[in-house]
Amino acid sequence: MAKSTKTVFYCKECGYESPRFMGQCPACRAWNSFVEAPAAKEAKQPGRVDLAGRRGAAAPGVPRRLSEVEAEAEARVSTGFSELDLVLGGGIVPASLILVGGDPGIGKSTLLLQVSGNLARAGHSVLYISGEESLRQIKLRADRLGAFGDEVRFLCETDLDAIAEILKTEKPETVVIDSIQTICREDVTGAPGSVSQVRESTSVLLQLAKGLGITIFIVGHVTKDGQVAGPRMLEHMVDTVLYFEGDKQAAYRILRGIKNRFGSTNEIGVFEMAEDGLREVPNPSEYLIQETTAKASGSVITAAVEGNRPIMLEIQALVFRSGFGMPRRTAAGTDYNRVNLLMAVLEKRLGYRLSDCDAYINIAGGMRVAEPSLDLGIVMAIVSSYKDAALPDKTLVFGEVGLTGEVRAVSQPKARVAEALKLGFSTCIVPKGNLKALKEIQGLKIIGVSDLKEAVSCLEKGKQTGGEPPQDQDN
Ligand code: TYD
Ligand code: MG
Repeated sequence: MAKSTKTVFYCKECGYESPRFMGQCPACRAWNSFVEAPAAKEAKQPGRVDLAGRRGAAAPGVPRRLSEVEAEAEARVSTGFSELDLVLGGGIVPASLILVGGDPGIGKSTLLLQVSGNLARAGHSVLYISGEESLRQIKLRADRLGAFGDEVRFLCETDLDAIAEILKTEKPETVVIDSIQTICREDVTGAPGSVSQVRESTSVLLQLAKGLGITIFIVGHVTKDGQVAGPRMLEHMVDTVLYFEGDKQAAYRILRGIKNRFGSTNEIGVFEMAEDGLREVPNPSEYLIQETTAKASGSVITAAVEGNRPIMLEIQALVFRSGFGMPRRTAAGTDYNRVNLLMAVLEKRLGYRLSDCDAYINIAGGMRVAEPSLDLGIVMAIVSSYKDAALPDKTLVFGEVGLTGEVRAVSQPKARVAEALKLGFSTCIVPKGNLKALKEIQGLKIIGVSDLKEAVSCLEKGKQTGGEPPQDQDN
């Protein structure tokens, strides 16, 4: 039927709609983000968007005073994973819409299947709707997860209206939609996963969540080039956005809060992917530095703070004289430009001939961190490898490094040192500016350094000033 072939343009990033193509989105300023899609058949009434992002909401509401609003003490529901509860701000707020985003294959379905199992075991009614996998596939997966029980109900469905009907009749407490990119509505044109479909599905789910008091978890795949509507524009519509990330080769996964209308967003949860599903990692530090080879040159332990949580990491550096004219540098798990900058500071302030050297920097365990407090650790690892001199065993290093080679104070020094103390560390090399805050800490030696020279002097053996780097190191 060539009835209405009218098309509109949507911004892939924020969902801004325009009758013509634009190079830059006037709403979110993203470049080259417009895609053409058939216009939704239902005439949208622009400008009539209520607080929850619903378009064309029915009757206008009545203005109220806050004192008239019943502030029911929010009862939070535990997901059975304390790491997830932490990221959600203390558990699930009933009737919220939660987006779980992440690369395909990272473990979103596994996580939500396990959460469904946990919730059902705690006596909640759960409906798991999959548009991606057949019931058989889900069963196979559930079997791997061990004792799953029979309390969760499953449905393979991609039609939005059918889903809405079922939610209205069944009224489960919690629903999982896996994934939003597979759900579509017949009377909305556009393939499943297109901007118009995703937006329509999400707004219907939002109304169902709020109207029926159902908590809905939505799975959203992030695609590299945003060919299908990335969950980006979804983020504006939902209450909570969690991203599941991690190196697929490494076992650990990080669940990060990106947006949360019911709590802070800077918490992270750490999980490990095992043969029988995801396991919580309550002590990520122990997990990330367990294999540390003590006293190897080029290895330094530092403490980053993710959210309010200190996490200890091992920074490894391999620095040696380059065989070619153009030195090679890589930085895995941290900011490449920052590493280059730190190497330039070392070269200029301490006179090391690093511009002749290849340098490979790696955060062990596949963790990705870009925090200024890592600077000193990176610098120490580079110098340690360059001079083939190790730090004393059980030493923690953190601090920000400035362009003049000064070591600057960082936030939350106490939390970082306390974590080191917990893991039996004996020495901490910290910015001098942080010493005051660490006065009361006992049980380990704290060395305050004010510049790179002082920091580097903590390295044990090796040549004192920037001499020839050892020709080959194979640690
Ligand atoms: P999946 O949850 O399907 O990822 P997503 O829904 O994000 O696309 O699973 C991700 C990977 O996890 C999959 O490649 C297999 C692996 N996996 C395990 O290692 N152990 C397990 O117990 C399960 C269920 C999956
Ligand atoms: Mg999946």
